[in-house]
Amino acid sequence: EEDGYDLWLRYRPLAGAERAAVLRQARELVAPALPSPTVQAALAELRRGVQGMTGLAPADGKRARAGAIVLGTPASLPPALRPTGLDRLGNEGYVIRRIAGATVIAAHTDTGLLYGAFAWLRAVGTGVAPHRVDERSAPRLQQRLLDHWDNLDRSVERGYAGESIWDWWGLPGVRDPRYIDYARANASLGINGTVLNNVNAKPEILTAPWIAKAAALADVLRPYGIKVYLSARFSTPLELNETATADPLAPEVAAWWRRKADEIYRAIPDFGGFLVKANSEGQPGPQDYRRSHADGANMLAAAVAPHGGIVMWRAFVYAAENPVDRAKQAYDEFQPLDGRFAPNVLVQVKNGPIDFQPREPFHPLFGAMPRTPLMLEFQVTKEYLGYATHMAYLGSMFEETLQSDTGHAPGLTVARVIEGAQAGHPTGMAGVANIGSSRTWSGSHFDQANWYAYGRLAWNPQGSSRAIAREWVAQTFTRAPRALDDIVVMMMDSRDAVVNYMTPLGLHHIMGTGHHHGPAPWVAELARPEWNPVYYHKADRGGIGFDRTASGSNALAQYAPAIARRYADPATTPDTLLLWFHHLPWDRPMPSGRTLWAELVARYDLGVMQARGLRTRWAALAPFVDARRHAEVAQRLDVQVEEAQWWRDACIAYFQSVSGLALPPGSRPPA
Ligand code: GCU
Repeated sequence: EEDGYDLWLRYRPLAGAERAAVLRQARELVAPALPSPTVQAALAELRRGVQGMTGLAPADGKRARAGAIVLGTPASLPPALRPTGLDRLGNEGYVIRRIAGATVIAAHTDTGLLYGAFAWLRAVGTGVAPHRVDERSAPRLQQRLLDHWDNLDRSVERGYAGESIWDWWGLPGVRDPRYIDYARANASLGINGTVLNNVNAKPEILTAPWIAKAAALADVLRPYGIKVYLSARFSTPLELNETATADPLAPEVAAWWRRKADEIYRAIPDFGGFLVKANSEGQPGPQDYRRSHADGANMLAAAVAPHGGIVMWRAFVYAAENPVDRAKQAYDEFQPLDGRFAPNVLVQVKNGPIDFQPREPFHPLFGAMPRTPLMLEFQVTKEYLGYATHMAYLGSMFEETLQSDTGHAPGLTVARVIEGAQAGHPTGMAGVANIGSSRTWSGSHFDQANWYAYGRLAWNPQGSSRAIAREWVAQTFTRAPRALDDIVVMMMDSRDAVVNYMTPLGLHHIMGTGHHHGPAPWVAELARPEWNPVYYHKADRGGIGFDRTASGSNALAQYAPAIARRYADPATTPDTLLLWFHHLPWDRPMPSGRTLWAELVARYDLGVMQARGLRTRWAALAPFVDARRHAEVAQRLDVQVEEAQWWRDACIAYFQSVSGLALPPGSRPPA
């Protein structure tokens, strides 16, 4: 019975000619002598895949011949088998070529070979004939990380897939085999780092017992090319009573962090570095001592630099000191620091200026800090998009951000910024993980696609979310063409549906307080203004929307002039972001010919229709999907339809209560 545990690495039996073709091309596996643990992992995966697809495991071959899969580096491959395309491939790239009837997977490192092995399995798993697999690929970003918001008590902040997969109590002695499956899944995508603990970090994580647990995980993950990182609480030495202050410029503090880094690197020689959330949402930071983010980041960077480590310093900052517009604070604090960060610091910026909403404009820092490596942070877990219940394929949302033109230079998209087009290396992307102990890992079958899409886009930020969805469906559900197409259409529509029934036309942050599930546009009485949904939609008798132009908060001025000019005028602002940037009268005519009010209602109605459409399509797919997974998805779609209606009804009723307007003629009444 299919329970989803195998993710996209299912390797289910092929039949007939397809099976025969794999058997012909994967008769034996040839690897360098004395294979490293990484090469052994690649061989094991190929064996598992071929065995799964054909029922027969390939033999261990000694020399390359027709029908063999040969893994090798330039040093191990005989000249005749050295494929072209090895130049400028970097440490993690791979080449797959047919040479003299053999399939040669070549790379400069063993990790590259592992990625090549997974790429061959992916190609075959998506229906490429094995003798036609021909690929050359190298990652466009250096750091491709999952950030776990996992607490030390195994709860997961914003986690909807059960408790943490890290069994902290059992570690370091007990090494759950699940860690290996986690590593395989990540390696199959090229994810090469994992931040083990929540950004809202506890001091304890940096004490000896926890370093030992992290070291045990690092040992398990290392063969799969995955480095371990830790979130660090800025005030750790002070809170552990080992210093009298946490001031980053105090010599005893810098010395403490250097000693701490040395201690960590003794246990984890390839430790990746620290992720830090400072002076945000109550977390301590350098500003507590009137020092800047750069002072704080550089002090930590100096501690890990001798070991080759990095510091990822988050730009997600907001505090009540900025009552005008929360969306402006990160830019205000960070942009002036451009060029002031140490070379091994990356400033980690969320995709949008507020907080992982169903839709946001790209963050104005992208393109605005040309002398600072910026890393992009996406949220894979769906805090604001219906948890692990609603279907929302995030690939299209990620692509929308990545392909946004920053306007700072010709062709300078967000993707190009994080690829280092301005600031050079280091480069990276982080995804807030949606993984837990759930049998499906992600809490639902379709949320696995968000892990998959994140990983593929971290490897290649220029990738197509539709192509990625096709790959995922082919490996995870079916290669039957009609069914595959239908599921991909569902996925590509799904996030749009969520935007429509939750926050159409650029509305944002009107979710229930704290938990962020379900509508609550009416909430107005919370202590801090920027916690209240009314702060974001600003609906009143006259109109709706957040004026971020010069007549309002002027957050728009944080964008490049070309963008700022375009978005200053509601007529040239994309309707998807209209109420993000403008406060407009309810009766404003829209391009559709409707008033703004009627358009808003129409979008809510459309969202409900789209959710129903997902359910209808899925029902028709029953013959193509195993019963258990079909039913599990169907249940969630039922909830989604119900909750889409809830969102629509609640938001429309609330906005009516402030505007006094009647439901537009012809709008669909609640079902
Ligand atoms: C959101 C989320 C928090 C999280 C924060 C962050 O605000 O709700 O749980 O800590 O983002 O990214 O730091």
